[in-house]
Amino acid sequence: MTTLLKPKVMVEFMKDLASEAGAIVASYFEGQFKVESKDSVPSGIDIVTDADKASERFIMDQIGKNFPTHDILTEETPTERTGAKYLWIIDPLDGTVNFSHSYPHFGISIALMQDDEIIAGVIFDPVRQEMFYASKGYGAFLNGTRIHVSENKGLFTCILGTGFPYDKAESRVNNLEEFCTVTPLAQGVRRSGSAALDLAWVACGRLDGFWELKLKPWDFSAGIVLVKEARGRVTDRHGGSMGLSSQSILATNSLIHDNLIEILSRVV
Ligand code: IPD
Ligand code: CA
Ligand code: CA
Repeated sequence: MTTLLKPKVMVEFMKDLASEAGAIVASYFEGQFKVESKDSVPSGIDIVTDADKASERFIMDQIGKNFPTHDILTEETPTERTGAKYLWIIDPLDGTVNFSHSYPHFGISIALMQDDEIIAGVIFDPVRQEMFYASKGYGAFLNGTRIHVSENKGLFTCILGTGFPYDKAESRVNNLEEFCTVTPLAQGVRRSGSAALDLAWVACGRLDGFWELKLKPWDFSAGIVLVKEARGRVTDRHGGSMGLSSQSILATNSLIHDNLIEILSRVV
């Protein structure tokens, strides 16, 4: 029988990983790095840098050494799923476009899933030295202090985050209509360039809500447990439960959630 891992213990290991990966990413940010196009979209705007690769190599090596039987799902390296009880979900650098333009807003995101449930998540911002972390049942924290979502109720007093997929030039499912529908109704809508940090910022109340389409599991998995443990609500844009293959995400302080589901449903 597999001994179950304790989320609160695992999160400490994950904080160390994210902190060291953050130092690797920061050293590239201050120095030189190569940028390559991933060719996932014809426009070539989906890129990867030496920093993404070095951060990923470090995190994968550490998980491999400490938990050799666990599965890993990570952005830059294809891996096989063996059906292990535990799955690590990693974005070694979220906000690569920002990073490549010396725009100082990016993070490292690491989540741990047990069966079908995310039990711990860490998002580290190496520029601000902000470590966001949460483990199931133990709350969400920023640098050791408990965090909660905001208490804003009316959209006109709310600031929201969103983003646009890399295939925005090729696909009409690109969030532009949704952006135009929501923007006149909110106090402000921001496009930060890091979905992981957007979710962390919902958890600590800097944003009242966040939605995006076509994100990948590594963009949102750690953020889901953070927002939930900070007393927020996370669903897909229709109010359905989130899974690894969800095609949209809506994360809010819970008070504006149903309102945003209705507003987003105006775009078909
Ligand atoms: C991207 C960022 C961005 C979001 C994109 C993501 P990456 O991740 O999170 O904010 O709008 O959809 O793909 O490529 O920088 O890891
Ligand atoms: Ca990402
Ligand atoms: Ca990434």
